[in-house]
Amino acid sequence: MNSLRTCVFPCAGFGTRFFPATKVIPKEMLPLVDKPILQYGIEEARDSGLDKLIVVTSKGKETIFDHFDRTAELERSLRERGKDELLAEVDAVSRMVDLIAVRQKEALGLGHAVLTARDAVGNEPFAVVLPDDVILAEVPALSQMRSVFEDTGRPVVALMEVSEEETSRYGIVAGELVSERRFRVTEMVEKPKENPPSPYAIIGRYILPPDIFPLLEKTQQGAGGEIQLTDAMAELVRQGDFYGYVFEGTRYDAGEKLGYLKATVDYALRHPKLGREFREYLKDAVL
Ligand code: G1P
Repeated sequence: MNSLRTCVFPCAGFGTRFFPATKVIPKEMLPLVDKPILQYGIEEARDSGLDKLIVVTSKGKETIFDHFDRTAELERSLRERGKDELLAEVDAVSRMVDLIAVRQKEALGLGHAVLTARDAVGNEPFAVVLPDDVILAEVPALSQMRSVFEDTGRPVVALMEVSEEETSRYGIVAGELVSERRFRVTEMVEKPKENPPSPYAIIGRYILPPDIFPLLEKTQQGAGGEIQLTDAMAELVRQGDFYGYVFEGTRYDAGEKLGYLKATVDYALRHPKLGREFREYLKDAVL
């Protein structure tokens, strides 16, 4: 288990935490400063050396594929009007990646969404990126995890320490830190209502072997009545070494309103063209 080049992006959710904005527009297409949320995840995967990118969607998410497609008419119009800078930006996005589309026909949960990608993934290890979890980091979070995978050949999930009140919102792991950031997982539970086994929450980045698929097939409905990826991974934990990695970087839950606003501010402050002026504006706005 070593060649890692595939990444699955589950994008089939309804985006209910962002209603009414996401009634028609896929939440993955909401702009974070000047790029749709999903593009950050796609760039992270690409910058981590992954080039086979599979997007799991549901009805009404076609704009995701349009965004990464060529737009001949728009390109022609920009060229004719001499808008070279804009043309280069549009061109860069459409050349960035080729996406493989997989359709999840029923909203049965994250585990089911990943299982839907089985044929497209094939018999290879693969990464999963949840686009809502946007991670601002010097070294892409997936790339940090990839090092652990390459070192051990074992599955890896991204971890972040959360407060006790927040543990019921996440998959939580049990186990111990074996080095500064590497965690050996001995158990995991999805959204524990009480007695979380640790303060370490799973964040939406995973590197998994294809052995997860038969386990997902057998996984029954879990927390929230959904087929949970965490439940299938808990089974994988019982079968052999399983790692967590407490990534370096800041994570935003861009799938809900407050997290999205925080991400917008932080990314805008770092934007090469907008950052300086935006900082000045914010200084006045918050005083
Ligand atoms: C999903 C996973 C959960 C994980 C979380 C990270 O939950 O099921 O284990 O901790 O993503 O964002 P969701 O937020 O989709 O309910």
